[in-house]
Amino acid sequence: MSQGLSRGLTNYGDRDFALYLRRSFALSMGYSTASLARPIVGIADSGSGFNNCHRHLPELIEAVKRGVLAAGGLPVPFPTISLGEVFLDPTSMLYRNLMSMDVEEMVRAQPMDAVVLVGGCDKTVPAQLMGAASAGVPAIQLVAGPMMTGRWQDERLGACTDCRRFWARYRAGQISKEEIEGIEGRLATTSGTCAVMGTASTMACLAEALGMTLPGTAAIPAVHADRLRAAEATGEAAVRLISSRLTPDRILTAEAFENAVRVLLAIGGSTNAIIHLTAIAGRVGVPISLEWLNRISDETPVLVDLKPSGDHYMEDLFNAGGLGAVLAELRSELHLGCLTVTGETLGARLDAAPRYVDRAVIRSRREPIMPVGGLVALFGSLAPGGAILKRSAADARLFETEAAAVVFESLEDLARRVDDPALEVTPDSILVLKNAGPKGAPGMPEAGYLPIPQKLARAGVKDMVRISDARMSGTAFGTIVLHVTPEAAVGGPLALVQSGDRIRLSVKERRLDLLVDESQLARRRAALEPTRQPDRGYRRLYMEHVLQADEGCDFDFLRKISSSQR
Ligand code: FES
Repeated sequence: MSQGLSRGLTNYGDRDFALYLRRSFALSMGYSTASLARPIVGIADSGSGFNNCHRHLPELIEAVKRGVLAAGGLPVPFPTISLGEVFLDPTSMLYRNLMSMDVEEMVRAQPMDAVVLVGGCDKTVPAQLMGAASAGVPAIQLVAGPMMTGRWQDERLGACTDCRRFWARYRAGQISKEEIEGIEGRLATTSGTCAVMGTASTMACLAEALGMTLPGTAAIPAVHADRLRAAEATGEAAVRLISSRLTPDRILTAEAFENAVRVLLAIGGSTNAIIHLTAIAGRVGVPISLEWLNRISDETPVLVDLKPSGDHYMEDLFNAGGLGAVLAELRSELHLGCLTVTGETLGARLDAAPRYVDRAVIRSRREPIMPVGGLVALFGSLAPGGAILKRSAADARLFETEAAAVVFESLEDLARRVDDPALEVTPDSILVLKNAGPKGAPGMPEAGYLPIPQKLARAGVKDMVRISDARMSGTAFGTIVLHVTPEAAVGGPLALVQSGDRIRLSVKERRLDLLVDESQLARRRAALEPTRQPDRGYRRLYMEHVLQADEGCDFDFLRKISSSQR
């Protein structure tokens, strides 16, 4: 099989000419003939001036290169799309699949024998894993690592649970404009991904649980010297991957995904991660259902005490023993025979893992934070395809609720009316947002964390049941039902809800029901307007092919799995 520079030649109808021309152009970059004879490790660089979380990627990539060279390979970085969470309009999720296509096609089209995927900010790791899984080239993930925390007065701050916490206090009139401006400069003070168990940290942990990173690397802070050593070791491991021919599909098995779901629940991870895991699994033909999530959730305790579910930050998880300590605690429930990117099994990894554990951050199974998993799927007449609630970051007093809905038709409607003093809402109301799902907004923005109406916030209301087809930042806290499927924009029952309708939430029964009779709903259904389609470009492709949340919001033509397999 062709290796290095002779892989996948440009098609001129003359192989020898194509290789001669490629070598000649590669020599123009100053490489020696000896260097060009080495196996090639591509380094997918998702750095960008529009991505604060990836500010240190140039330094990381230099360290990866050192490792590749030391192991006898030739490192060749190449740029890909970068998704800086807060710099994208309307939402980074709209572009996750585009980035995954970029990664897949560039890994396959360019002559590399293995690839190091360097990313971190929310959608970048899912996109890289989806792309690599489809490309079929040996791949290893290197995550950016989390930010360090900052300080404001006597408060320890970390993006972005504290961003939301202080913004809620500002909205409630508890802190001044000057104070919120001071906090703004203290929330994100280093490079790296959000400092709590948000989506980026969750996906970093899941990449390690899946076996796609080196052991012990998920939680190393972005600016810690260990992160550079991990980058160097990742470069070396990438060269070893070439001879082992260990392609992602051999690592990303059904058992590996079950391990990852268990870890997701034990770390109190982000709701977004279930969408991303489903999408990655779909690329290798592994079905993940929400019923399966509920089964694992009922038998998996929450062990990690990190915000937004708990009190600590990612740098504390690193110092407490890292993900290895969490995996060791879950050992009896994990599939230990799963292969990892180093060629060793998960069981062998755990045998070699350091033993120190800080129990303030990583609890034992005997004394968990919650006896059951952090996420739960709900089903019912309002969500026939399912919905998600992060019960570990919610107010348990609201888990059994029946109340009248206050409905917002869209994000624009929400922005216009939520703070209107005339809004008819009480602390017991259920807030409902429509048209914020995969096709609705479009791109399923993180808008599920509906703000508490200002008049209630000022009266001291801190949580209410909120329901939408949107996603929520992994850093948010509240009794928030998300990913209602099918979404309103494709005519799901959510589209039919009107203010005053009664809704029943029962976490105990895993139910979410709209208590309106069928004849009334049929009349409303007949009056629904179709969603407008974009005329052209990527947005048109997106609208025509994006799947619902229960199928990972991937494009139908990118999955290896058909709907009938699920
Ligand atoms: Fe990049 Fe939160 S903004 S991880």
